[in-house]
Amino acid sequence: MAADPGTLFGRAGGKSMIDRFGRTIQYLRLSVTERCTLRCVYCRKEEGFCPKAAELSRNDFFRIAQVCAQLGINRIRLTGGEPLLRRDIVEIVEDLATIPGIEELTMTSNAQMLAENAARLKKAGLTRINISIDSLDAKKYKELTGGELSAVLAGIDEALRVGLLPVKLNMVLIKGVNDEEVDDLIALAKERPLDVRIIELMPMAELGQDRSLVVNNQDLIAARPYLKPVPSRYAGQPSQDFTIDGYLGRVGFISPIYHRFCSTCNRVRVMSDGMLRPCLGNNMEVSLKNALLKSDEDLKAIIRETIVQKPAGHHFETGFESHKSMAEIGG
Ligand code: 5AD
Ligand code: SF4
Repeated sequence: MAADPGTLFGRAGGKSMIDRFGRTIQYLRLSVTERCTLRCVYCRKEEGFCPKAAELSRNDFFRIAQVCAQLGINRIRLTGGEPLLRRDIVEIVEDLATIPGIEELTMTSNAQMLAENAARLKKAGLTRINISIDSLDAKKYKELTGGELSAVLAGIDEALRVGLLPVKLNMVLIKGVNDEEVDDLIALAKERPLDVRIIELMPMAELGQDRSLVVNNQDLIAARPYLKPVPSRYAGQPSQDFTIDGYLGRVGFISPIYHRFCSTCNRVRVMSDGMLRPCLGNNMEVSLKNALLKSDEDLKAIIRETIVQKPAGHHFETGFESHKSMAEIGG
């Protein structure tokens, strides 16, 4: 559909947000902190993080989410850094869960502190959770992230127990480092309702700039004919999804490099420093900090204007360098 932002944005109730490339924007990712308990090799930059004191407040996130819901956002994901490092994370979840129009409230976590928090998050209104797990070998997991695999496994068990379903597991493959574990990860989907997702390494930190480290997901799919394609569980999901006979969970491949999905991207990001970033792979950002001091109508106007300018897509293939790390943007 051809986009005419002027008229589409003016619709009664403003309930549909369509950018200049005709994409309906319905999915907001809120990075609630840049702080993290881990140091994943493909993620961190060493300097320039938003200090805790400068992070948006619980109320700022609530207002942004409310306004976005009025603009047509129906799904919110809390990201970081590590969202569970926010002392008020349960309250943030509680707030966002009350917003009319938000049908799904999810989180991406490294699960180092999930076991002790999953029940509270579920009770507060979290719908489900994505957990990063880049190796099933404790020693390698430690090398890649600095964290403890046992904590992640306990977090997965607890997320399943309290019903944050489907629990999704994210694995970023690095050639020659953890790509031999891909079938071990897929096997986790067999006995429990775990959706496993294999993610191509993006050039967000120095490591991803080396293209020889990127595993092509299309090759992995082609080599596994037992993968049966199925439609995504949710609209606008970037993954190519598959089932395997006899498995409870699914397998998804997220391929920003070799199976670009920018043309159907439905998401925007707000970061803990108050910047609204319409595209992960494009440095265009607009600060909401001043607008947060003004009325909801003013805040709505700046969010709408920025989202309509969402870039067509990333430039990973031509030496894109992100001014921000993944931990700042929130994946
Ligand atoms: N490439 C691909 N995925 C990444 N993530 C972080 N950095 C990268 C990168 N360079 C993923 C993590 C986690 C989510 C927050 O983003 O694996 O699942
Ligand atoms: Fe932390 Fe996620 Fe970055 Fe790992 S990828 S350092 S868990 S923000």
